[in-house]
Amino acid sequence: MSTYKRLPVVFERGEGVWLWDDTGKRYLDALSGIAVCGLGHAHPAVREAICEQAGRLIHTSNIYRIAEQERLGDLLTAAAGMDRVFFANSGAEANEAAIKLARLHAHRRGIENPTILVTENSFHGRTLATLTATGNRKVQAGFEPLVQGFVRVPYNDVDAVETAAANRKNIVAILVEPIQGEGGINIPADDYLARLRAVCDREGWLLICDEIQTGMGRTGRLFGFEHAGIVPDVFTLAKGLGNGVPIGACLARGAAAEVFGPGSHGSTFGGNPLACRAARAVLETIAADDLVANAARQGEGLLAAFRGFLADIPGVVDVRGRGLMIGIELDRPCAELVNLALAEGLLINVTAERVVRLLPPLILQEPEARQLAETLSSLILRFLAAR
Ligand SMILES: Cc1ncc(COP(=O)(O)O)c(C=O)c1O
Repeated sequence: MSTYKRLPVVFERGEGVWLWDDTGKRYLDALSGIAVCGLGHAHPAVREAICEQAGRLIHTSNIYRIAEQERLGDLLTAAAGMDRVFFANSGAEANEAAIKLARLHAHRRGIENPTILVTENSFHGRTLATLTATGNRKVQAGFEPLVQGFVRVPYNDVDAVETAAANRKNIVAILVEPIQGEGGINIPADDYLARLRAVCDREGWLLICDEIQTGMGRTGRLFGFEHAGIVPDVFTLAKGLGNGVPIGACLARGAAAEVFGPGSHGSTFGGNPLACRAARAVLETIAADDLVANAARQGEGLLAAFRGFLADIPGVVDVRGRGLMIGIELDRPCAELVNLALAEGLLINVTAERVVRLLPPLILQEPEARQLAETLSSLILRFLAAR
């Protein structure tokens, strides 16, 4: 079905941060399949893990124990400071699990119509519950009736959360991205998450972080919430977890980790041996190759380079980012830049109409970062000068 407005290019193979199309032209991939291929393309560790696992066992069922799921679960919960994990197949499904968990938690505590606070400009997925949670009318329009049980507040606004807390008695959780991705690489105040954590502790709400875009080293920490020095009760992962093999995860700690029991949620494919083996290879490689630190270092270099090239240029509103999650906001719609970059052999994205979004692989090295900064900056300068 024609659900996607596709760019006129077909990629045939990839290696590291590079992709080649069917005419043999090479592209620098500064998008990683939208924050998915953190280890780049055709990474040997992922390839070997998948091939080996495929030759042994791809799928059994969650009606049996799954050794690879247990191994990944142990690694992931230990890395995250969480107690338990539910495995799904996508980001939206991971968020669905978190939403169901919050509702079940509330019902067990006698709250009949549980409400989850969500934010403006957020993105949480395309299923009915997650598009309702999403703060973008375009994603929702035409799919009414929406799902009940969500209340929206502005992002980066703790006062609005306090007002909601004072006026509503059935709030049970806040669902929030540590940095808004689709919404335009919106970085909240440094104390935002810590203050939300404090409100949640006071009110007995669950703090649920959507780490689907920010997680797995993207921001220069393994998880985005680490920048705030807090730990959520629940958080979700997908995208970079499997480097392209579909897998999502909903992690929880404390009482939240004990909410689901046998029969309360499930998935046929979720956490199957193949997906879990791929994700374990990703986690182990990120640790072994110190890719979180690399993302932080390369991200700082890129930000400095972009600021050097673009600071004080009329039309450039802001250059911002954390790790390898970078946004360059212009004063005008700039979707056209994606095609201009494509012609130059560079893959970028524009989100929220005016924000160039960069999500390059965590394996990015200096020469490629320099090429990215130079090519994109000159494209932006040309684009702004032409109009
Ligand atoms: C923050 C966030 N949450 C959820 C999703 C949905 O993930 P998926 O497309 O895997 O369902 C995305 C995808 O862009 C996302 O960025």
